[in-house]
Amino acid sequence: MKVNQAEFIISAVAPSQYPDDGLSEIALAGRSNVGKSSLINRLLNRKSLARTSQRPGKTQTLNYYKINDAFYFVDVPGYGYAKVSKSEKQAWAKMLETFFTTSKQLKAVVQIVDLRHPPSKEDIQMYHYLKYFDRPTIVVATKADKISKGKYEKHKKVIKTDLQMDKEDAIILFSSQSGYGKDQLWRAINSYI
Ligand code: GTP
Ligand code: MG
Repeated sequence: MKVNQAEFIISAVAPSQYPDDGLSEIALAGRSNVGKSSLINRLLNRKSLARTSQRPGKTQTLNYYKINDAFYFVDVPGYGYAKVSKSEKQAWAKMLETFFTTSKQLKAVVQIVDLRHPPSKEDIQMYHYLKYFDRPTIVVATKADKISKGKYEKHKKVIKTDLQMDKEDAIILFSSQSGYGKDQLWRAINSYI
């Protein structure tokens, strides 16, 4: 996809703030600090449109980015950040549940995991949660630049097995640093918008 235009639209916490112009939405979910915002920036060829941080928990609202006046990326706050309080965790869970149950334009969710490690308990929960809500899911294993190519297949297999992935769901290896997997991910996203 050639990205001509990419702009931040809104940080939303409630459905009344979701855009309602009927454009398709693709959400990005994953553990805090896994690299969701970096992946958006890489896909869009923008250095810092989505704010990234070495500190986990940077993204705390549903951040909508409008692409080419054609669809939205929704950057979802990450899970699994140990330092948030119980009430913050509950607020997060409620916000996500509301989003996944009410968003009519959500066409697919890109679930991002770390290629280096087996999926966390929360990664597994999230994948099953998306299945429960019947959301088509594209699993992306990012930070691929951090391990050698010889290990890719082995790590990919662990992720597929641990998530108990549906056969029809794709897993795409990616690196926000090098751009590895970018074309493949765009093709997958395009098939939903
Ligand atoms: P939250 O918004 O806190 O949930 O984090 P996030 O998932 O948006 O992560 P973010 O994109 O902010 O990245 C977290 C850290 O990982 C940053 O230091 C990034 O530079 C680094 N990072 C992200 N993707 C990659 C990658 O593909 N390769 C490498 N080497 N580093 C990455
Ligand atoms: Mg982020």
